[in-house]
Amino acid sequence: MRTKKSGDDSNGGFYAYLGVLCCVLIISVIAVVSIRFSVSGSPFRSSVSAVNSGTVSIAELQKKVIAAALINQNPSRAISSDVSLYRNSSSPQIPKTSTLVKKDDKIEEGLARARAAIRKAAGVRNLSGGIYRNPGAFYQSYKEMERRFKVYVYEDGDFIMIHDGPCKDIYASEGRFISEMEHGNNKFRTRDPHSAHVYFMPFSVTWMVKFLYVPPSHSLTPLKEFVSDYVRLISIKYPFWNRSGGADHFMLSCHDWAPFASKGNDFLYNTSIRVLCNANSSEGFNPQKDVSLPEIYLYNGVVSPKLQSPPPANISRPYLGFFAGGLHGHVRKTLFDHWKGNDSDLRVYEYLPKDMDYPSEMLRSKFCLCPSGYEVASPRVVEAIYAECVPVMLSDHYVFPFSDVLNWDAFSVQVNISDIPRLKEILLAVPEDKYMKLKEGLRAVRKHFELNRPALRFDMFHMILHSIWLRRLNLRL
Ligand SMILES: *[C@@H]1O[C@H](CO)[C@@H](O)[C@H](O)[C@H]1NC(C)=O
Ligand SMILES: *[C@@H]1O[C@H](CO)[C@@H](O)[C@H](O)[C@H]1NC(C)=O
Ligand SMILES: *[C@@H]1O[C@H](CO)[C@@H](O)[C@H](O)[C@H]1NC(C)=O
Ligand SMILES: *[C@@H]1O[C@H](CO)[C@@H](O)[C@H](O)[C@H]1NC(C)=O
Ligand SMILES: *[C@@H]1O[C@H](CO)[C@@H](O)[C@H](O)[C@H]1NC(C)=O
Ligand SMILES: *[C@@H]1O[C@H](CO)[C@@H](O)[C@H](O)[C@H]1NC(C)=O
Ligand SMILES: *[C@@H]1O[C@H](CO)[C@@H](O)[C@H](O)[C@H]1NC(C)=O
Ligand SMILES: *[C@@H]1O[C@H](CO)[C@@H](O)[C@H](O)[C@H]1NC(C)=O
Repeated sequence: MRTKKSGDDSNGGFYAYLGVLCCVLIISVIAVVSIRFSVSGSPFRSSVSAVNSGTVSIAELQKKVIAAALINQNPSRAISSDVSLYRNSSSPQIPKTSTLVKKDDKIEEGLARARAAIRKAAGVRNLSGGIYRNPGAFYQSYKEMERRFKVYVYEDGDFIMIHDGPCKDIYASEGRFISEMEHGNNKFRTRDPHSAHVYFMPFSVTWMVKFLYVPPSHSLTPLKEFVSDYVRLISIKYPFWNRSGGADHFMLSCHDWAPFASKGNDFLYNTSIRVLCNANSSEGFNPQKDVSLPEIYLYNGVVSPKLQSPPPANISRPYLGFFAGGLHGHVRKTLFDHWKGNDSDLRVYEYLPKDMDYPSEMLRSKFCLCPSGYEVASPRVVEAIYAECVPVMLSDHYVFPFSDVLNWDAFSVQVNISDIPRLKEILLAVPEDKYMKLKEGLRAVRKHFELNRPALRFDMFHMILHSIWLRRLNLRL
């Protein structure tokens, strides 16, 4: 079991363990900070000292939370009188079967109309070679999504690991999505589960790792148990999970271990939509139903200002290629064996010299190498897109984000791992006009990888939703 992230030492990043809390909920920030530092008088203190001191085991705590949730009481009574671990969710009234069936029919009819409209738009296939695999189909599908798509977010559980996630550092895409879904003013969320197309289980695997994982045990059992309990809770309390075997449910996480956590429930693993950064198709990631989530590194919660304004396209970049990062995994080993310190034009570093900074080097390079680390995904991909530095994808079995609609060949270069020894030759052989096309592609695709608050049309939040929408439609563009 690996305990490190895909290598960002040179980025100066130290990911989730120090991950500062998301986002909108100042209150949860205060709560968790006080957990970590045992500030006395914190309303969460008693529960947390229970977690830490071992007087109540995690499993017991979880069982109490879940059990109490099931009988719809405030479980904090079981642990401490002033801790509210469970929000008394406004249990929706379940309508009589006839209404339910009617509503379901309506939902399916709507989806059928959306499918028909998208197929029709896909027929006039044109403009090939752009950043989209099929622009007509994508725009139609996006419009249908805006028109119809409804997501129900389970409200149960007010425990630290639900309804919140990290909005800083390497797992930020997890927290930012959860935050947008929970607190954003988006029209996709519905409070009526009977009119929803999909059901979101807003737990954070990153926070589970932070609060449930006992280093260096390498045991992911507590994570799996939490997920298992969570699914059991919603499947007993609501009819929706059983109705579809979880197929219209989704979870989302950027943590390396999210695929393992999702093994806590077989149906979640095999049937539900899992939105994951760790999208390794030879480790159970199934692109037919799962969604590849971009990894994005937010230092102090924001994109590096240097990357926000890349130089104009006509300013020439002095270097051919750039990479800096730790020796994590076999791809980087191969890269370093051949290129570390080897070439003054294709510059590959394990440790970036003190007088250099990472974003500036990206802006001065034509190509940015994005080798997999311990896991397939790398935040460098999104950084390269921002920097208008053509990403060179060096990975095996990585399902690229949004590759259901985006044509990655229009804005990146893929190099086979076995061709790493010829890397410089391959990059030098990219003709200038092709290179300018790739840069154009980068500028066009950038908006799809941006996080905005509030979220904007076609940005990363909406692209993630769109990927989920396509899985729910069960349609390939
Ligand atoms: C929780 O729900 C139960 C049953 O619906 C209700 O009796 C109780 O008053 C609620 N508690 C709170 C704190 O809202
Ligand atoms: C398809 O592309 C061609 C050439 O680019 C153009 O002439 C034609 O009008 C396009 N057709 C549609 C339906 O957009
Ligand atoms: C869903 O199925 C599980 C296992 O078969 C069962 O325990 C649960 O009561 C069911 N939920 C509902 C709402 O019927
Ligand atoms: C999930 O998939 C695994 C491996 O293919 C299989 O052993 C298991 O029975 C499946 N579980 C369900 C609930 O389909
Ligand atoms: C780059 O383009 C801008 C306007 O597009 C122009 O003002 C500037 O002179 C150009 N710079 C170079 C080095 O060609
Ligand atoms: C992807 O999964 C395969 C099979 O488990 C593994 O051999 C490979 O190392 C993984 N890739 C990365 C980058 O972790
Ligand atoms: C990468 O190279 C290996 C060995 O030459 C080859 O077997 C494999 O098919 C190549 N993969 C791709 C995607 O071209
Ligand atoms: C640099 O890389 C090239 C291409 O892989 C290789 O031929 C050469 O031996 C390397 N030089 C050093 C000093 O490692």
